[in-house]
Amino acid sequence: MAAKRLVVLVSGSGTNLQALLDAIEADGAEAYGAEIVAVGADREGIVGLERARAAGLPTFVCRVRDHATRADWDAALAEATAVHEPDLVVSAGFMKIVGKEFLARFGGRFVNTHPALLPSFPGAHGVRDALAYGARVTGCTVHFVDDGVDTGPIIAQGVVEVVEEDTEEGEAALHERIKEVERALLVEVVGRLARNGYRIEGRKVRLLP
Ligand code: GRF
Repeated sequence: MAAKRLVVLVSGSGTNLQALLDAIEADGAEAYGAEIVAVGADREGIVGLERARAAGLPTFVCRVRDHATRADWDAALAEATAVHEPDLVVSAGFMKIVGKEFLARFGGRFVNTHPALLPSFPGAHGVRDALAYGARVTGCTVHFVDDGVDTGPIIAQGVVEVVEEDTEEGEAALHERIKEVERALLVEVVGRLARNGYRIEGRKVRLLP
């Protein structure tokens, strides 16, 4: 079967993007089930874009401040993504909430990874919030995006223990441990979605046999 087409959206260091690139390179796109056809970002000057360019991939940047309204930005992001005809769009550390137009076009095939065990600690500070709350375990969640903030149907989760040494100042160390689990989980989930196909039934995501 032909490899599914992925567009990956990034805002930062792009280590999740790199994990996908490495897995596709190691397995071959056909065996993995997917290939990355483009990488999009909401800002210039990030390592995630450098990784994409180093891999020889087309990139696009869609900045909120270049558009008159948030809705205009959302429509432009949707259009820039659609040009690459993706089967799946992956938000891998993309730190923007997309809007109506993007979801109308890519809802049900837009996957996000979040650094906490949803529905606990949604939003931009999932790691910090779990630490501040005193949670003893946290982790990461790969889920489909809906019109809420980190509320869409959950595909898979990975658990990471919070240890005594994880102070709120040590947020970065905990986030690094979460990201190790997160990268492996994202690679596994995206490959399985691409190879098996899937159905979203309410809040449940069923991989096809
Ligand atoms: C990940 O932990 C993601 O869940 C969060 O930001 C991090 C992105 O890391 N939203 P990277 O850019 O893939 O290295």
